[in-house]
Amino acid sequence: MADLNVEISGIKFKNPIIVGSATPTWDSKRIKRCIEGGAGGAIAKSLFGDSAAIGRKYPRPRFKLFNYREYPGYPEDLPDSFTLRSLEECSSFGYEEYMKDINKAKELVKDDGVVVASLSGSTSEEWQTMCQMVNETKADWVELNNSCPFAADMGVKMGAGAVDLTKEFVHTCSQVLKKPFSVKITPQTSDSMSLAKMAEEEGASAVNLSARLSGIMIDIETESPIGWQSIGGYGGPYLLGYGLKTVFQVAKEVNIPIIAGLGVWKWQDAVSYFMAGASIVQTVTAVMLQGFNTTGRWVKSIEAWMDAKGYKSINDIKGIALENIKKTSEVERGYPGVQFSVNRDICTGCGVCKKSCMYEAINITKVGAVIRDDLCDRCGMCYEVCPERAININKF
Ligand SMILES: Cc1cc2nc3c(=O)[nH]c(=O)nc-3n(C[C@H](O)[C@H](O)[C@H](O)COP(=O)(O)O)c2cc1C
Repeated sequence: MADLNVEISGIKFKNPIIVGSATPTWDSKRIKRCIEGGAGGAIAKSLFGDSAAIGRKYPRPRFKLFNYREYPGYPEDLPDSFTLRSLEECSSFGYEEYMKDINKAKELVKDDGVVVASLSGSTSEEWQTMCQMVNETKADWVELNNSCPFAADMGVKMGAGAVDLTKEFVHTCSQVLKKPFSVKITPQTSDSMSLAKMAEEEGASAVNLSARLSGIMIDIETESPIGWQSIGGYGGPYLLGYGLKTVFQVAKEVNIPIIAGLGVWKWQDAVSYFMAGASIVQTVTAVMLQGFNTTGRWVKSIEAWMDAKGYKSINDIKGIALENIKKTSEVERGYPGVQFSVNRDICTGCGVCKKSCMYEAINITKVGAVIRDDLCDRCGMCYEVCPERAININKF
């Protein structure tokens, strides 16, 4: 059977699927449930510095799902893509309580899972204090969360609102910390690469690239934002492609392990992150909506898939897609031997393809859709939209 063990900086993960910092890792009791559910580790909900204590209280309700329950077949069938908005910034604990609870989590979990404390300060002094305190706990690992998507909007300079300070903060912590640490960086910057390289230079054991964006939705009847009336975390499986892009870009340039996980909704998504270069995959939204046992189910599926494929360890699949990823400038362009045709036996003449053809190449006739090859741009949209899958791509 495939061996899913991963070791980073001397810390052994029994498997590389962990639960990220959020509601499922709220406190020691929930961290224990994460590990019992099959996760190799859990990153505790972030402790914010006292200057961001406003984040320790939340609006209620604080979660909003878009395009979720509307899915046909729900709740047996779940949508592949939806949005989770939330306003839940940090742990409700103060410094002392947090450290005590981290100790409790490790006592409960023992060696079954890696317990990660997550810190987020807005001044170097705050970071220093929290790092000193966490050094004295039983946490296996520390995450420096520089990714809070809405900190700036809370009136505090940290996370996505203080990308310019990330280097200073990480440097401060690296001087104080006595435990392995990862740096969680924000996707709300045009330059994730520099932040990842900086984390490497500062001696981080890993970089975490799983942070979400922030967003807002407007109700046009009430003319105001839906929910608690402010921006909030804005994520969901639709972000998978964005997360994968960041991971493969960073994996090509940075040597420290990557913790990835934006938008992971099924085990195949986790595998694609490994193939893009991740060493560990974290998940939050899937646990919140599919339950604490989600990670265990994924681990079993990944093991079975690896066995069937003949892969022996995560290292066998880590980064294997990288050599297949081209720069856009390297992509073959023009008309590389592609032609589209309609399968007459299947086409119903519904006209969906005609609406989406921007080149006036499709006519709906008595025999169904007809594609004029001389006008066809070969863009592929008709193939994508056809509800009957009646359009063939012919390559020659
Ligand atoms: C409700 C909620 C609360 C979160 N709280 C934190 C947090 O306290 N610290 C942190 O680093 N990330 C936090 N995150 C971000 C997650 O750790 C994770 O990076 C993000 O949700 C993307 O993963 P996913 O697509 O599996 O949800 C939170 C996410 C959600 C949905």
